[in-house]
Amino acid sequence: AADMGKDLLSVLIPEHELQDKIKELSGQIDADYDGKDLLIVGVLKGAVMVMADLARALHVPVQMDWMAVSSYGAGTRSSGVVRVLKDLDTDIADRHVLVVEDIIDSGLTLSWLMNNLKSRNPASLEICALLRKPDAVKVPIDVKYVGFDIPNEFVIGYGLDYAERYRNLPFIGTLAPHVYGGE
Ligand code: PRP
Ligand code: MN
Ligand code: MG
Repeated sequence: AADMGKDLLSVLIPEHELQDKIKELSGQIDADYDGKDLLIVGVLKGAVMVMADLARALHVPVQMDWMAVSSYGAGTRSSGVVRVLKDLDTDIADRHVLVVEDIIDSGLTLSWLMNNLKSRNPASLEICALLRKPDAVKVPIDVKYVGFDIPNEFVIGYGLDYAERYRNLPFIGTLAPHVYGGE
């Protein structure tokens, strides 16, 4: 079994800070979608924790749907090739859609996904991302709700994985480079 004490380099965002931020974001979303019928779309698998906590913090009525896309596979860098592993069950034409993501790193996943969803003619289409890395500014994505701008480190926990592990940590941590073959 893995020794978490050795794999984990540091706790970047503790659990209570994540939960405070989710409350703050949900307040903004409640205000912005007041009187509207909102569909929140979680991007599996990374967004599962933020989606579950955000949905429970919201007061506006929501429907929830999921898309599963993967661009990383087991590596630590985005391949740039986005695979749709599961599409939406919902027809989003004329719907108010809010895409919920755990992290924007290179921006490739969301840039591809937003183009894909736009072509289905939603009434509105916005993004809520818990984390954003510096490289994301290189890709023109309009992100309405951002939790934290974080440094360019490999982060895990609260939905984020390295080779499918660590998703269940209740906080955001950084991974020790030896775990993924760095120095
Ligand atoms: C991760 C993360 C985002 C995406 C961000 O997903 O959850 O969806 O990468 O990276 P990008 O901005 O460089 O495209 P991943 O492909 O690892 O799939 P997962 O959510 O199932 O872990
Ligand atoms: Mn993901
Ligand atoms: Mg991943």
